[in-house]
Amino acid sequence: MIDPCEHPPKLPLIAPSILAADFANLGDDCRAALDAGADLLHVDIMDGHFVPNLSMGPAVCDAVRKACPDAFLDVHLMVTDPWAYFSPFVDAGANLVSFHIEVCESAQHAIELADEIRGLGCRPGIVINPPTDAKALMGTLEAFDLILVMSVNPGFGGQAFIPEVLKKTEWIRPQLAAHQRLEIDGGINLNTAQAAIEAEFDTLVAGSAIFGKPRKQWASIIEQLRSSKVR
Ligand code: DX5
Ligand code: ZN
Repeated sequence: MIDPCEHPPKLPLIAPSILAADFANLGDDCRAALDAGADLLHVDIMDGHFVPNLSMGPAVCDAVRKACPDAFLDVHLMVTDPWAYFSPFVDAGANLVSFHIEVCESAQHAIELADEIRGLGCRPGIVINPPTDAKALMGTLEAFDLILVMSVNPGFGGQAFIPEVLKKTEWIRPQLAAHQRLEIDGGINLNTAQAAIEAEFDTLVAGSAIFGKPRKQWASIIEQLRSSKVR
């Protein structure tokens, strides 16, 4: 398994979002994405409250873990009360669990939640929505292994990329240590990946750009996303 926070072999890392996979053949799709060169799998959890959609719960994460025992599972909690789900997702095989700064009462609260996740033997991540100022993360960055900047308003795959979020890296990136990943999520495809890489994101989530295409194209798409800087 590649641990994205420990000497990743190559950057940027590509994280297919399984939200866009064929749920009737989820294990197969996940294995095929990894075989096609994906570095980790991004698992989107929606509660119908923090976002206006429902997606999957721990049982689905557990099924993906069983289908892909060596995959790094990056679980993105788009839920109002993430603390209720840390344990169930760690038990279901999550390697990293991220939650939104928008549901935290304060920086201290976010740090306490990060410690809780770490205490379960899992890596913590923090997520910020497009309308939220990057400085909302002030005082919290050090506590996290992954900072996830949303480039769409969360809730659905296949939305248009919001380029204004790219400037958040100017404030975030200089504060990060080598082991901390800076991930972008939403609307990443062959047209937008280059701008994300140039803005110094090192982990790209892509759902419909990969799973929305025929399986035989996935390896080429993943390689093109990764090398977008030199295209
Ligand atoms: C949005 C999710 C994303 C989504 C990305 O709410 O957090 O991970 O699956 O999908 P695409 O790549 O299709 O925008
Ligand atoms: Zn996501």
